[in-house]
Amino acid sequence: AASDPDLVARARAAKEKLGDRVFILGHHYQRDEVIEFADVTGDSFKLARDAAARPEAEYIVFCGVHFMAESADILTSERQQVVLPDLAAGCSMADMATAEQVAECWDVLTDAGVADVTVPVSYMNSSADIKAFTGKHGGTICTSSNAKRALEWAFEQGQKVLFLPDQHLGRNTAVLEMGFALEDCVLYNPHKPNGGLTAEQLRDAKMILWRGHCSVHGRFNLDSVNEVRERIPGVNVLVHPECRHEVVTAADQVGSTEYIIKALDAAEPGSKWAIGTELNLVRRLAKAHPDKEVVFLDRTVCFCSTMNRIDLPHLVWALESLAEGRVPNVITVDAETEKYAKAALDRMLALP
Ligand code: 13P
Ligand code: SF4
Repeated sequence: AASDPDLVARARAAKEKLGDRVFILGHHYQRDEVIEFADVTGDSFKLARDAAARPEAEYIVFCGVHFMAESADILTSERQQVVLPDLAAGCSMADMATAEQVAECWDVLTDAGVADVTVPVSYMNSSADIKAFTGKHGGTICTSSNAKRALEWAFEQGQKVLFLPDQHLGRNTAVLEMGFALEDCVLYNPHKPNGGLTAEQLRDAKMILWRGHCSVHGRFNLDSVNEVRERIPGVNVLVHPECRHEVVTAADQVGSTEYIIKALDAAEPGSKWAIGTELNLVRRLAKAHPDKEVVFLDRTVCFCSTMNRIDLPHLVWALESLAEGRVPNVITVDAETEKYAKAALDRMLALP
């Protein structure tokens, strides 16, 4: 649907009034009506890198979810304020690992005698607290575009990895990109005593995967892949590594949102693609490539509801507030958390 012209005009006017004082970042899963106003778009890695690109901007309006805005606050200067247009834009995966649960997990690893040889690797999709835990214990953050490099680095530092909070990215990267066996991975369930694991299992494992997942990507299954291959002969199945292992194994290619965009840009005219990621992005790709057939991998999977909370009315409200001198929905990370979380994020940004 076309955006309300009145709201578009108001967003434009407020943005113009703010000029260089505001820098708008937009994740690839954002609505078209929001992406239209982004100064920079990207996957979570690119946005983490780009957040600090405009030190002169007083305000960073983050069109994405809470953990991304926290990371932007950590990576930008004290003077810059990060605004999340709707505070309810969280991430169900990030919420699956709380600071208390992760501290308890580390106690379990300590009791099993493996904490000393374990390096935490946390997916960007985690709270600042989890990033701080990671930094404190000598680990790194990773995103879906550098998970392999992060794991390679981690296995140079220790013998095991505690991978938080997305089991699928952890398993897919370890098994499909690093040559580990499925049996090298164990699943730590924070809702069970000792994670549901014995000390022996923890000692034998190379990858200790946190039992978290993305509720959007988790809905694709093997039937989605089989059905689309039957429906569209010759189709290339391209999925995000947050998908289940059997989906990624059955796909032709796997990669982050930025990878997916580049793959489509490089694809031959006339080629056919079934994309397994969030719907806003897939629809935009289909529109941007009328010379290719671009379909959604499974029609029952839809938008990320929290990403979608950032809509044009919220963006207009945030921009107009700023233009009027009020700073709404500021995301701040306390100094102690920031120090350790930044250590883990800097480690990621320094990966070769
Ligand atoms: P990327 O931006 O790393 O592709 O991750 C997708 C995602 O789920 C963000 O929430
Ligand atoms: Fe979280 Fe999944 Fe939404 Fe990304 S797509 S913000 S991982 S729920």
